[in-house]
Amino acid sequence: MYLFKTVPDLQAYLRPYREKRRVIGFVPTMGALHEGHLSLVEQSLERSQCTVCSIFVNPTQFNESSDLEQYPRHPEHDLQLLYEAGCQAVFMPEVAEIYPDGTSAGSMEQLDFGGLDRVMEGAHRPGHFEGVAQVVKRLIDIVGPDLMFMGEKDYQQLLIVRRMVQQLELPVEVVGCAIVREADGLAMSSRNQRLNAAARAQAPAIYQALLQAAEAASEHSAADIRQMGTKALSDAGLEPEYFELADADTLQPVHALQEAEQVRAFAAAWAGGIRLIDNLPVKGGPA
Ligand code: PAF
Repeated sequence: MYLFKTVPDLQAYLRPYREKRRVIGFVPTMGALHEGHLSLVEQSLERSQCTVCSIFVNPTQFNESSDLEQYPRHPEHDLQLLYEAGCQAVFMPEVAEIYPDGTSAGSMEQLDFGGLDRVMEGAHRPGHFEGVAQVVKRLIDIVGPDLMFMGEKDYQQLLIVRRMVQQLELPVEVVGCAIVREADGLAMSSRNQRLNAAARAQAPAIYQALLQAAEAASEHSAADIRQMGTKALSDAGLEPEYFELADADTLQPVHALQEAEQVRAFAAAWAGGIRLIDNLPVKGGPA
């Protein structure tokens, strides 16, 4: 496995793959890797001849500086995991390598996310998706992948990145990958490492609330399901931020399940000061 810190070094390594028209797979991450990330790497290894994984904690997508400072960082351990997984190349740049002209340059204001960015995470984390789009665009420009693998835990992010790729006509296929869960159902996330024991014990209630929503979907109104979901999170000792039922394509809230072919339930809640998100199909999609 090769480790690159600069754009020219990574690009020189990738040139022969590109010249021979080999498939380049890309897994963008912010490090603190877990089984969820490794499943993305595995899927990339299956479908490409060269898998590049980036580890870059992107400052422009954090709307709170304390969150950025406390974001878990274990580069040595991450490299070990990627090596064991069989990843061919790791890109671990400094901030100045990604943003040589400063973090505000090349912002994504001209993009129209069609309302995908105005609900849920977009409404609760102002500027977050602009930062995600900015860094993902830059990383795609640097790596030039044929396939890019992203997890469905950040489902809204996945749809926004797909929309950006479509609008800018970037020659990459964005492959959405299923959420990987702990044995008790908690969606794997780098943030889980920051949960204390009490919060870790409460956190699986998010998945339970989503499952309950999926079961109730055919018999209850969307408003009732939102209320039940929010209450289930509070009853478990979590601080719910939202519990939403939304069209799986537009992410706009649904009022009745018949309104959309595919509906997903989405939740964001705080557990012991750590913000967690999760989602589950409730209509028309694999549960
Ligand atoms: O999902 C993440 O880890 C990040 O948002 C991403 C896509 C690597 C961009 O920084």
